[in-house]
This record gives sequence, C-alpha cells and structure tokens, in this order.
Amino acid sequence: MLYRTFGKTGKKVSILGFGCMRLPILEGNPSKINEALATEMLHYAIDNGVNYVDTAYPYHGLSFTEGGKSETFLGNALKNGYREQVHLATKLPSWNIQKKEDLNYYLDEQLKRLQTDSIDFYLLHGLSKTTWEPLKKLDVFEFLDSAIEDERIGYAGFSFHDELDLFTEIVDSYNWSFSQIQLNYMDQESQAGKAGLDYAYSKNMGTIIMEPLRGGGLTDNVPSDIQAIWDRAEVERSPAEWALRFLWDQPEVNVVLSGMTAMEHVIENVKIAEDAHANSLTDEERDLIQEVREAYNAKVHVDCTACGYCMSCPNGVDIPKNLNLLNEFYIYQNMGMSAQTYSFLTAMNFSASFCNECGECEEKCTQIIPIRKYLKEIREIFEKDTTPP
Ligand SMILES: NC(=O)c1ccc[n+]([C@@H]2O[C@H](COP(=O)([O-])OP(=O)(O)OC[C@H]3O[C@@H](n4cnc5c(N)ncnc54)[C@H](OP(=O)(O)O)[C@@H]3O)[C@@H](O)[C@H]2O)c1
Repeated sequence: MLYRTFGKTGKKVSILGFGCMRLPILEGNPSKINEALATEMLHYAIDNGVNYVDTAYPYHGLSFTEGGKSETFLGNALKNGYREQVHLATKLPSWNIQKKEDLNYYLDEQLKRLQTDSIDFYLLHGLSKTTWEPLKKLDVFEFLDSAIEDERIGYAGFSFHDELDLFTEIVDSYNWSFSQIQLNYMDQESQAGKAGLDYAYSKNMGTIIMEPLRGGGLTDNVPSDIQAIWDRAEVERSPAEWALRFLWDQPEVNVVLSGMTAMEHVIENVKIAEDAHANSLTDEERDLIQEVREAYNAKVHVDCTACGYCMSCPNGVDIPKNLNLLNEFYIYQNMGMSAQTYSFLTAMNFSASFCNECGECEEKCTQIIPIRKYLKEIREIFEKDTTPP
C-alpha cells in the first residue's frame, strides 16, 4: 500500500480509502448490510494497509434524511483492534440541521453508533448553496472548534457537491484540514473538479476523492466502443484500474475512496494501490483516457450546458441538475446510481417531481431545450420502475 501526506494534518494516509456507502447488501435492501461479507472485506483492506475509512449518517438507509446502518455496522466491524489501525471519517447530515442543538445531537449520536470517543476526520456532508447558508447562520464554525477542543473530533473538513466558485468560497471561510470532492476522468470540469482539487491542495488541505468510478458507471456495462479503446492499450487493465490510476497519477490527490461492493473489488483495488505512484502514467496512456472521455461524452442525451438561465424555477426544480442526471443515465446506464441521485434531489425538493409544466423555464432556455419533455421523461424513468435505455 502506498501512503501520502494528508495536507496540514501531516498524517500518512493510504491512497485507497474504504468508502462505506456501497457495502454488500441482502435482499436488495440497502438497509440490510451483508455484515459477514462486509466485515471480511473491511478487515482484508485494513490488513493490507488501508487506513482511511469513510462513512456518513445516512449511508445504508432508506432515505437521506433518516439515519442509515453504515455507522452502526462500522462500530461493530472495527472492534478487536481494527479501530486503532484506521483514521475514521464520518459526516454531519447537513440537510437535517434546523437549530444549533442539532449539531451536537448528531455528533453525539454518531459517536455512539461508531462506538468511539473521537471521530478522526469529521465532515460537513454534501455542502451546496442550499446546505451551506443555514449552517453558517447556526455558527457551525464555533461548533467545529468546540468539538475539536473537547476531542470529539480530530480534524474538520467538508464534502462538496456544487460549483467551483462556492467551493473556493467555502475553502476560504475556515481553517479546514481537508475536503472531499467528486472526481474521476469524466468529471474533471464539473462540480469542484480538477480546479477545486488544485485549490484545496494549494491551501495545504488534505484531499479526498469520492466517486472515482462514478459509482460504478465507469465499470458496469462498459459499452463495446469504449472497451475497444481500452483494448488498444499496451498494458491490459480493467476499466476500474484505468480510472483509479488516472486519479493516483495526480500528486494533488491524497485518498481515493472506493465504494467496494464485492471482495474481488477490494482485492483488485488494494493491488492497484500498491504501485500507483503519482506521475506514473505515460503520455500515451493519458491520451487513451482522453479518447475514452470523448467517446462517453458523445453519448449525451440532452444538450444542456448548465448555463442556469432557466432558473429559478417557481416550483424549485433544479433544472440543470435534473438534465445532468438524465444525461448520466444515458451515458452510464447505471440505474442504481441514477436512482440514488434522483432520490437525493427529491429529498431536497429539487427533482423533476415538482414540475407542474408551467413552461417558464423554456422561455428562458438559451439552448431552446424542450425542458418539460425531458423532466417528464425523468419522472417516467425514476418514478415508475422502468429499465435503462
Ligand atoms: N460525501 C458525499 O457526498 C459522498 C457522495 C458519494 C460518495 N461518497 C463516499 O465516497 C465513497 C466512494 O464513492 P462511490 O461509492 O460512489 O465510489 P465508486 O468507487 O465510484 O463506485 C463504487 C462502485 O464501483 C464499482 N467498483 C468498485 N471497485 C471495482 C472494481 N475493482 N472493479 C469493478 N467495479 C468496481 C462497484 O460497482 P458495482 O457494485 O455496481 O459493480 C461499486 O459499487 C463512498 O462509498 C462514500 O464513502 C461520499
């Protein structure tokens, strides 16, 4: 296992982190973790050098607002000496915070679930315009300072799902130790993106990457034209290996979290992490990844540029996010991943579900997109149980 220095904390973190959002489950029910298998996978990873474990309050639950089973699972699975071998990270459910007391309530609840006195790395979960403003008003920095002071948490950070300008604003607003962003070879320019990674790194913050395989979108049902590009490489590698090596090639990346669902994933990813040094890809390999990126992008369904002119919707629908979701659904054909995003948008009152077809957005759209038609298509896909195209 390779290790990198985690920004200003100076901790040595394994380049592969164990993400506990996609543990193996029973009966297709996300709240029923296959605990025996998940424990075996986690122990294998730790025994082979993984020392960063990431979870969050809602993981393995039935909705984002309710608590899930991931933290409780970890509390048990990290017994017998495993807790001491890892940096444990979990996240405050930002969208559930209504008043100041909620901040301490959730943290104390999480310490109990995780059966630990201190959470090494504590994140404000999924910061975006919607979650950030209310948290600031509730003096979240004071809360983080006091939780560090009384050692309920070691270091404070945040995970992020919004645009780059908000990311830099948040980075500049507090003495964060680290941040967690979505990054993979398809998302270099969306959300915080590569520019956000570089910005956090320049501030000496630890950097964590989530969704390195786009939640399985880059590895499941790989289209034959994309596979044909990979097959031209001199060295034979799986699509997962290409995606992980793409990230570890970048020295600014500290930890790549992988949401491993099967023992084979853990074994493969641990093995790759043994020699995935920074700056180790050749120019030809980087060009090949670029070719794959272009081939995926050619599969886009809606020509939305996310300019935002259609906003704001009188019914609160986040139109660019919904159209982006529809594109992802067509490109990656991963129903599980897309349905999860849709349920998150619905929980935030942003999904196509809230469209009443008034058509105001279409009058403002710079690309003349029949938005109502696509929002309807989204409802048909995610609110009825249909199969991917
Ligand atoms: N803070 C946030 O807002 C946030 C959001 C998302 C994720 N996260 C964290 O980041 C972690 C990683 O994100 P993610 O779970 O979306 O990660 P990911 O690694 O992009 O996707 C995980 C999926 O990739 C596939 N996979 C993993 N290793 C593989 C391999 N070697 N070969 C083939 N397929 C492989 C599996 O898909 P199949 O099972 O379908 O084969 C697995 O379910 C999460 O577990 C969570 O801890 C945080």
